[in-house]
Amino acid sequence: MLIREAKAADVPEIVAILNADTLTNPSSWRIEPETEADREGWLESRRATRHPVLVAEEDGRVLGFASCGPFRPFDAWAGVVEHSIYLHRDAQGLGLGKRLLPTLMRAIADAGFTHVAAVIDSANEPSLRLHRNFGFEDIGRMNGVGKKPSGILDADFLLYDLKKLDRDRAERDERDQNRSGQ
Ligand SMILES: CC(C)(COP(=O)(O)OP(=O)(O)OC[C@H]1O[C@@H](n2cnc3c(N)ncnc32)[C@H](O)[C@@H]1OP(=O)(O)O)[C@@H](O)C(=O)NCCC(=O)NCCS
Repeated sequence: MLIREAKAADVPEIVAILNADTLTNPSSWRIEPETEADREGWLESRRATRHPVLVAEEDGRVLGFASCGPFRPFDAWAGVVEHSIYLHRDAQGLGLGKRLLPTLMRAIADAGFTHVAAVIDSANEPSLRLHRNFGFEDIGRMNGVGKKPSGILDADFLLYDLKKLDRDRAERDERDQNRSGQ
């Protein structure tokens, strides 16, 4: 599997992944499907502001993508990004998130940002586990803020300080080595 920068030709697969998630994932905060034109503009604006957008590709097929964008529009927040990670339904629960997230975090650090915020539906157990295991810290929960036809949603806010990236990586590598040596 290859993790690389997204390009314009990936947009149809990115939109298909997002729209499938909107329709099937109770934890999705989207209600309406997106268009390819929406995402083409989004990709261009992310490029212009140097916010990384990555895709995971296997045999020429996009299995998922991970990206980030500004967290809040005021100057003093310039170091903070909010990220997202979405996998094709066929690729979920197989450990791909654990490969894509560290690569995105490295790209965000290399682009010069300092902190990554994650806003995750409080019922989205796989995503919360992925982020907490990586080292994101829980900041708090906003109860009852999401309104969908299917019901009311709560949101968990988590934060990762990119200064921890190298140390956390060394700890993860050591844990993996110990596991494979057992
Ligand atoms: C959330 C997502 C990125 C996680 O990536 P993934 O590759 O599926 O997850 P992984 O296989 O790396 O597993 C991550 C953790 O979640 C756990 N997990 C996976 N599926 C799970 C499930 N259905 N229920 C509970 N835990 C689950 C795994 O066991 C693992 O925890 P562990 O390391 O403690 O064992 C992916 O499932 C996805 O794209 N989901 C749909 C879109 C989405 O919700 N995106 C996030 C929006 S905030």
